[in-house]
Amino acid sequence: MNILAIESSCDETAAAVIADGRRILSSVIDSQVQTHALYGGVVPEIASRGHMEAIVRVTDAALQQAGLRAGEVDAVAATCAPGLIGALLVGANFGKALAFSLGKPFVPVHHIRGHIAANYLAFPDLAPPFLTLVASGGHSLLVLVQDYTEFQILGGTRDDAAGEAFDKVARVLGVGYPGGPKIDAMARGGDPAKYPLPHAKVKDAPLDFSFSGLKTAVINLAHNASQKGQELDKPALAAAFCAAVVDTLVPRLELAAEQTGVQNIVCAGGVAANSWLRQALHEMAARHNWALYLPPLALCGDNAAMIGSQAYYEYLAGNLGSTLQNAFATAGIDENICTKIS
Ligand code: KG4
Ligand code: ZN
Repeated sequence: MNILAIESSCDETAAAVIADGRRILSSVIDSQVQTHALYGGVVPEIASRGHMEAIVRVTDAALQQAGLRAGEVDAVAATCAPGLIGALLVGANFGKALAFSLGKPFVPVHHIRGHIAANYLAFPDLAPPFLTLVASGGHSLLVLVQDYTEFQILGGTRDDAAGEAFDKVARVLGVGYPGGPKIDAMARGGDPAKYPLPHAKVKDAPLDFSFSGLKTAVINLAHNASQKGQELDKPALAAAFCAAVVDTLVPRLELAAEQTGVQNIVCAGGVAANSWLRQALHEMAARHNWALYLPPLALCGDNAAMIGSQAYYEYLAGNLGSTLQNAFATAGIDENICTKIS
């Protein structure tokens, strides 16, 4: 079954054709990152307009690369939640209109479920149940993936997402947007012990975590240094920040694996590209002899291939969108967005 998938939840307009949820026939990503970099972050209105301008071109390119005409795909899928609402509405309405005009099923996909599904494209044998650490720009969660469309949230951030914290710290250190990859690169060679940073615990919730205190500590350090006219060791601060994020996420993932007894570990989302996190996850898996699945870098960030993968399993589960399907800025990974009303 070939699914044409569309992704437009943030600042990437993407389309892909995926066979049986596992094989990438084509994947096209049109990034607006250079435009938003001028403003130091994503400007929602510009993102929506950018998607409108790009969506037909990107979809045509994905079909062409797959060697298919629109009428030859078996279903059309689009990210319908969560994300920037104006941005989501472009892809969701375009996908919906295309599907119904072709007389094909429309499959609404939850963006974070898609991030997890990126791993199905990279690892043909991966199947639920498994434990996932989701770390993206908008979400940080520990999720038990019980089945392809069944998710149990075990823990998550109480405030900022990991990627959000990376982007904020990048802004403070003056490296611009998008921050994650730049902080990752800057941290190489930095001494993480030079700046002690806080490691917050959430009382009575051992699988929950928080990044706002860490983010504020970095901001205060930078401001104090500038007020005193002191030179900031940016690589050391970036390294300390990366180490603190890793020390927040990895022990909780480890605890979740011990508590659930699930020993297949998956990582998903943009922050899964972080070299410090990847190394710490490898070390954790080796320590326990657990199976670890890390998406290749090309599938960590936003793309439509992952949406096409998840769409296949949503389709098999009967989770189809009607002509009234809406898009939603927020939606839990454990919610069925086909039946969500508001
Ligand atoms: O999953 P994603 O592409 O978009 C969302 O769904 O949010 O994640 C984007 C986030 C951004 O905050 C970006 O700074 C972060 O992932 N990111 C990284 C790295 N690459 C991207 N964070 C840390 N290290 C990286 N190498
Ligand atoms: Zn994403």
